[in-house]
Amino acid sequence: MPDSPEELDSLFHSLDALGRFPGTEGPELSAVDGVDRLLLAEAYADLRSDPATDGGGAGRVVVLDDAFGALTLGAVACATGASDPARVVVHQDWVTAERALDVNAERLGLTDAFTRHDALRGLDSELLGRAKVVLLRLPKSLDTLTEQVEAIARHAPADVTVYAGGRVKHMTRGMNDVIARSFGDVRASLGRFKSRALIARSPLPSARTQEPTFPRRAHLGEIGLDVVSHGGVFAGTRLDIGTRYLLTFLDEMAPDAAQAIDVGCGSGILAVSLAQARPGLQVLASDQSAAAITSTAATAQANGVAAAVTTLRDDALSTLPADCADLVVCNPPFHSGTALHTDAAHRMFAAAARVLRPGGELWTVYNSHLLYKRDLSRVVGPTTMAGQNPKFTVTRTVRRD
Ligand SMILES: C[S@@+](CC[C@H](N)C(=O)[O-])C[C@H]1O[C@@H](n2cnc3c(N)ncnc32)[C@H](O)[C@@H]1O
Repeated sequence: MPDSPEELDSLFHSLDALGRFPGTEGPELSAVDGVDRLLLAEAYADLRSDPATDGGGAGRVVVLDDAFGALTLGAVACATGASDPARVVVHQDWVTAERALDVNAERLGLTDAFTRHDALRGLDSELLGRAKVVLLRLPKSLDTLTEQVEAIARHAPADVTVYAGGRVKHMTRGMNDVIARSFGDVRASLGRFKSRALIARSPLPSARTQEPTFPRRAHLGEIGLDVVSHGGVFAGTRLDIGTRYLLTFLDEMAPDAAQAIDVGCGSGILAVSLAQARPGLQVLASDQSAAAITSTAATAQANGVAAAVTTLRDDALSTLPADCADLVVCNPPFHSGTALHTDAAHRMFAAAARVLRPGGELWTVYNSHLLYKRDLSRVVGPTTMAGQNPKFTVTRTVRRD
């Protein structure tokens, strides 16, 4: 950990201006946290190196899954010498995170100071092939981390340094193990701001040649589907039990529908099952996550319905016109029932109300303790319970005129 030079303090001060929009905002929710601060402090010397002396600069700093832009804008602000917008390249899986970075960049007058990697291209050599420094916030999912670390070790130059930071209370031994499978030198920083960084160097030669773990493909005999999933996509290549229950109502869903939408499609199981069961039905599968979108496209391809399933990376269908669908299926993020999750579900219901034609149907599955039936009736239209098992409720909502 370097001393905190004055520049670093003033950088932290300027980052205090960042907001979380379009993410959930609230007095106790901050767009910059101890993990961001620790990562910028740990990588400070590397981030400051002058592009004039470090080999041109383009693509030398790579930021993965910046939450609201603090790492990207912080890395930009650390640079010395002439600022090259190609120097800091950011890849964000969530389109909402991209939007938050854009809003914050504008706020700090840094809109053209970095380069965005097309998230649908994934973690490829174009993104990582010149990286000297990689900053990433440790994801909750070890599968996500595995895919990220394997990609860095495969594509980045041998002198790359990876700074992977997390809240101490959320860090596990498994994270070290994942990184150590691809890097010869892994050490932990001292703790600060209740956070710690794992710092990795020396990508292993074997990591350059081994088959990537993701995307994974599995056959789900139970529903006769091949599922393809990138790391961190909801349920991976497994069938979620809520999804399984919703699938048992497939035949009852808007029988005359021509246009259907799967909002929050994950690996694409609902969208692809619909397309398979209803020849002639066009299905749009949408998710905020690039990994989910590329997984869904691959799942559709693997099951021979690529022509019937189109994909769209979007935040709660925000770019779709009103009244464009006859059927929407939705398995919203619901497991913990925390404010953040119910918020996401409500945004999906509001989106369904907008994109459904009058008389169109929304089919939803959720944990029975959640009181979504009342919300659905209010926001979308008359809602009936189509089924209930010990854990889940499935509802059919008809969009009111
Ligand atoms: C419970 S998972 C369901 C995945 C899939 N439909 C299934 O049943 O296996 C919810 C999905 O919603 C997506 N999601 C969450 N918030 C979203 C938003 N604002 N816009 C679009 N997708 C979102 C998540 O990325 C996740 O893939």
